[in-house]
Amino acid sequence: MPEPAGTFAGQVALVTGAASGIGRATTLLLLERGASVLACDLNAGAGATLEEEASGRAAGRLAFRVADVALEADVAGAVAAATAAFGRLDLVVNNAGVPGAFGPITELAVEDWDYTFSVLARGVFLGTKHGARALIDQGGGGAIVNVASIAAFSAGAGPQAYSAAKAAVVNFTRSAAVELAPHRIRVNAVCPGVIRTPFLEPGRPQDLGPLLGRVQPWPEAGQPADVARVVAFLASAEAGFVTGEAVVVDGGLEAAGPGLDRVLKVDPRHAGLVGVSRGSTGAPHEVRRRPGQA
Ligand SMILES: NC(=O)c1ccc[n+]([C@@H]2O[C@H](COP(=O)([O-])OP(=O)(O)OC[C@H]3O[C@@H](n4cnc5c(N)ncnc54)[C@H](O)[C@@H]3O)[C@@H](O)[C@H]2O)c1
Repeated sequence: MPEPAGTFAGQVALVTGAASGIGRATTLLLLERGASVLACDLNAGAGATLEEEASGRAAGRLAFRVADVALEADVAGAVAAATAAFGRLDLVVNNAGVPGAFGPITELAVEDWDYTFSVLARGVFLGTKHGARALIDQGGGGAIVNVASIAAFSAGAGPQAYSAAKAAVVNFTRSAAVELAPHRIRVNAVCPGVIRTPFLEPGRPQDLGPLLGRVQPWPEAGQPADVARVVAFLASAEAGFVTGEAVVVDGGLEAAGPGLDRVLKVDPRHAGLVGVSRGSTGAPHEVRRRPGQA
């Protein structure tokens, strides 16, 4: 990695869930673009691997700390560690996450529901609370980016507790953006679709083939770096007038909608037809066969 010269030269970021997937990619990208990063995660082993990977390339600009985002003392400690290690704080990326409770609603255990919310929703609240305190005390503004999910918007992209907690993250992002705007602290969310990380494949690689080009219009699988680049944009001065937004990063999955045309087989493209329907106006429809279609 080159010496700091990029977008974030001289800036300090705190990234949670930094030892894997999207958090790891975000940490490496922020380092590459000149930031110093206090990376925290529950997984100490994966954190040590991240430190090894960055050592020598980001000379002295990465510090790793074990922290549980569901615990207020751990999050407050991580914020304090960032300012102690690097002298200031500019960016907070609240990324740590788990799939959490799954199964029928009628069978879900309250403790599993609460665990899911404690990591996904409370974790974002605590990162924002303690991050914003430090940014306000320091003066000069800053940026917070919360990693939500397209699961925030509908059923079918994650279990119930996960989806509800991610919806809470999107809504909280808006409240926090409004409240922190007078301090020039921007708060945004990214909503990834399906991204190839260990999150999807505990123990075995997930076959994303049936998804690609169908449920997800884009033909390639989403990668952690695809999300990291959007996080970096939202954290950067380039996004200086963007706050309270939830940016979807999903290869068109949300845009594809419910796919009724496919399911009901009413998409005329599949029948080799092209033309215009004038509805019930009484004017004639025009239907032509596409060139080369029987
Ligand atoms: N991978 C996807 O398809 C996808 C899609 C939408 C949203 N997301 C979200 O992106 C974020 C990152 O997920 P990922 O895909 O990179 O997963 P990942 O499993 O690769 O990484 C998540 C990291 O968070 C850490 N973590 C979990 N609980 C923690 C806690 N309580 N305190 C501190 N660290 C904790 C894990 O140890 C892990 O290193 C999550 O919030 C996830 O919900 C992922």
